Amino acid sequence: MRTRAIGGRQVGQVGLGGMPMSIEGRPDQGRAMATVHAALDAGVTLIDTADAYHLKAGEVGHNETLIARAVASWGGDSSAVLIATKGGHLRPGDGSWTRNGSPDYLKQACEASLQRLGVAAIGLYQFHRPDPEVPFADSIGALKELHDAGKIQMAGISNADPAQIRTAREILGDRLVSVQNQFSPAFRSSEPELELCAELGLAFLPWSPLGGIGRAAGLGRRFAPFARIADQLGVSPQRVCLAWLLARSPAVIPIPGASRPETIRDSVAAGELELTPEQLAELDRTGG
Ligand SMILES: NC(=O)c1ccc[n+]([C@@H]2O[C@H](COP(=O)([O-])OP(=O)(O)OC[C@H]3O[C@@H](n4cnc5c(N)ncnc54)[C@H](OP(=O)(O)O)[C@@H]3O)[C@@H](O)[C@H]2O)c1
Repeated sequence: MRTRAIGGRQVGQVGLGGMPMSIEGRPDQGRAMATVHAALDAGVTLIDTADAYHLKAGEVGHNETLIARAVASWGGDSSAVLIATKGGHLRPGDGSWTRNGSPDYLKQACEASLQRLGVAAIGLYQFHRPDPEVPFADSIGALKELHDAGKIQMAGISNADPAQIRTAREILGDRLVSVQNQFSPAFRSSEPELELCAELGLAFLPWSPLGGIGRAAGLGRRFAPFARIADQLGVSPQRVCLAWLLARSPAVIPIPGASRPETIRDSVAAGELELTPEQLAELDRTGG
C-alpha cells in the first residue's frame, strides 16, 4: 500500500477504525482478531482506537486491549504499526457519551491507556472531543505536558473547529500532527478543517468516512453516483468513497471501521483505485 505522512511517520494511506469491534453489534473476539490481522496483512499501519470504545460500564478500554492483543499476536513486523488512541470522551454504560477535558482527568486516562496498550509511550494520543466545561487550551495543555513527559510521541485532536485547530497548534507546535473530524458523502461540513490541515501540514483523519456503523452498507443506495461509478469499475461503492476521500487531499488518511476481514480488505484496496477528474467532480457534487 502507498503511504502518507502523519507527523514524522509514514503510514499506509488507509487506516482501520476499531470502534465497530467494541460497541453495539460487536463481533466475538475471534472475528475481531481476524479483522485486525487481515488489516495488518493488507498493509494497514494506522489503527484508530479510544478508551471509550466499549459497551458496558466496567469495560473501559475494551477496544484498546483488543487492538493491543491483536497486534501482539500478529505474525508480521509490528514495529511499523501506529496505534492512535484518544481520551476525554466517556461511556457511562447507558448508551450515552459524556465528556471530561480536565487536565488531571486526561493525564489519568492517558496513564490507563498506556497500561492497556502495554507501551512506554503512546504513538498518537488524541483529545477526543472538546469539553464545554473546560477551557480548550487547558485540555490541550495536558497533551503538551504528556508529550514533554515522554508519555506520548505525537498529539492529535478530534471534533475540533478551525479556531481550535489554530489554538492547539499554538500550544503544541510540532507535537500536533493530526485532526480527526467527521467527513463522508453525507457529512461535508468539516471542509474548512480539512483545508486548514493541508495548509498546516497536519494529517486529516475523516471519521465515519462511509457514513457510520449501520449506514455504511447503504452508501450506494443513498448516493447513486457512488453506486454507478462503482458498477462501471466493478468495485464496491465503499471503495469508491474511500478513493474519493483520498483524492481530496494528500493530508487525508481515512480510518474506515470494520468488524469483518472482508470489509477492511475491500477498503484497503481503495488505495489502488484512481478515479478520473470527471468522476471526482461528480462525486464532489453528490451528498453533503
Ligand atoms: N473521533 C470521533 O469522535 C469518532 C467518532 C466515530 C468514529 N470514530 C473513528 O472512526 C472510525 C470509522 O468510523 P465508523 O466505524 O463509525 O464508521 P464507518 O467507517 O463509516 O463505517 C463502519 C462500517 O462500515 C462497514 N464497512 C467498512 N468497509 C466496508 C466496505 N469496504 N464495504 C462495505 N462495508 C464496509 C463496516 O462493516 P463491518 O462491521 O461489517 O465490517 C463497519 O461496520 C471508527 O471505527 C473510529 O475509530 C471517531
